[in-house]
Amino acid sequence: MALPCSPLRALGLGLAQGLAALRALGSILVQSLRLLLQGKGSAAQRLSPLVADFGFQRQVLAVLRVVLPNFKSRRSLVRAYANKGTALVCRNSDVREVLDRHQDFEVVYGPRMREITGGANFFLGMQDGPTYSRDVTNMRQAVRRTDPQELLVPQATGWAEAIVGAGHGLIDFPQQLGAQIPARIVQEYFGLRGPRREDLIEWTTLLFWYLFVDLAASPELRPKAMAAAVHLQEALDQEIRERKDSLTRGGPKPADDVLQRCLEMQAIDTPGMDDLGIRNYLIGFIIGAIPTLSAAATQIVDELLNRPEQLALAQAAARGGDPGEFEGYVFEALRYQPLNPILYRRAVRDSTIARGTWRAMTIPAGTMVLASNYSAMFDPMQVENADRFWPGRPWRDYILWGYGMHTCAGAYINAAVLPVMLRPLFCRPHLRRSPGAKGQIDRAATPFPVHLALCFDAE
Ligand code: HEM
Repeated sequence: MALPCSPLRALGLGLAQGLAALRALGSILVQSLRLLLQGKGSAAQRLSPLVADFGFQRQVLAVLRVVLPNFKSRRSLVRAYANKGTALVCRNSDVREVLDRHQDFEVVYGPRMREITGGANFFLGMQDGPTYSRDVTNMRQAVRRTDPQELLVPQATGWAEAIVGAGHGLIDFPQQLGAQIPARIVQEYFGLRGPRREDLIEWTTLLFWYLFVDLAASPELRPKAMAAAVHLQEALDQEIRERKDSLTRGGPKPADDVLQRCLEMQAIDTPGMDDLGIRNYLIGFIIGAIPTLSAAATQIVDELLNRPEQLALAQAAARGGDPGEFEGYVFEALRYQPLNPILYRRAVRDSTIARGTWRAMTIPAGTMVLASNYSAMFDPMQVENADRFWPGRPWRDYILWGYGMHTCAGAYINAAVLPVMLRPLFCRPHLRRSPGAKGQIDRAATPFPVHLALCFDAE
């Protein structure tokens, strides 16, 4: 949604944006030169820590939004999904336009989704149509809007409190809390109880990586992802078989979980809810749930630890009586380190975006469009006080879990569960990083945070 904007205000904002871009450019040059002059190895190796840094990326995006907000090239940067070139879109209104126009800019994940399920597509890989509508409707009945508050918040609060309490002042956050809570949600709320949590974490991490992050199509990753897919398929097949066997044998009343609700929908012949359909729905949801919540929670902690003043305020809010106040810090920290800084779509036909503006661009059919939702969340033309850490900012400023037709099906879960995963830790006095490298995020050659050691004063 656009901020109301008179021509004079637009001019003022444009000038302010230009000045900010100039400042950002100066800082980019200084930081790059420093690394090039000091570091070891090739220029690319020397610059790589900078490129991975969220603050540096924000500066580059601030410059691009002014000088090259929409950019296209015939070069294909993404190898994992077929395309005939690349476009980058940085302005808030243009990012939203690409994601709104799903008839012109399609999701691309279908082929890898089919590899993972062993044949069928899952709705994040589908275009708009009857099957997409049926599948989304089915899963909205199984994953209900009331579940986060009624089921997940009380459970996750108890789990997080117990984990932090058992830590005696030390915690390796992603290992002991970040990944454990979503894995328990998969076991107890989704109903996949057979596999060990460590296996669920490993399989879903590989599969999420393969589907969404492996843009270069790494030949080493594929076999690992395929093996993980088979494990997940087999575990779900077994769970479904056992539930149905138990029902025919008149076994104990099963728990009210997502799998059980799917089987009840099957029993009344709901289209799409055969065993294979249920398995594939759950594969999609389970992959979406574990590495995402874990990485997002870790990045929120990291961002707040980088901001001592905000950390103190967030800790006070965590201890206070208004849950909304703490949530403000959680989501604002995630704006600075979002899990998905870019959403990508492929142009179905030649399509013009930002029509009628100086930055109008026709994107040729087949081009992979990288729509930077990270940039959009910092675009001062649409986002008030874009460069200020502002807990409690209007929700419309955020594009944390997608936008448009494919907006995250776990959005209500994320909004409810992330704060309660974090609150017990933030209630502990003197929360801080462990000394040295251990106290910094270690991704252990994966795209996801694997270690981040923290200390706090045990009560
Ligand atoms: C902080 C955690 C999460 C983040 C940052 C996140 C992010 C996203 C994003 C960006 C999309 C859209 C992708 C695109 O448009 O290309 C998406 C879609 C989706 N997410 Fe999440 N997600 C999170 C948690 C979850 C959870 C917990 C679940 C399952 C309960 C889930 C299930 C899904 C599904 C099924 C879709 C596809 C929706 C559709 O195609 O209509 N996600 N997510």
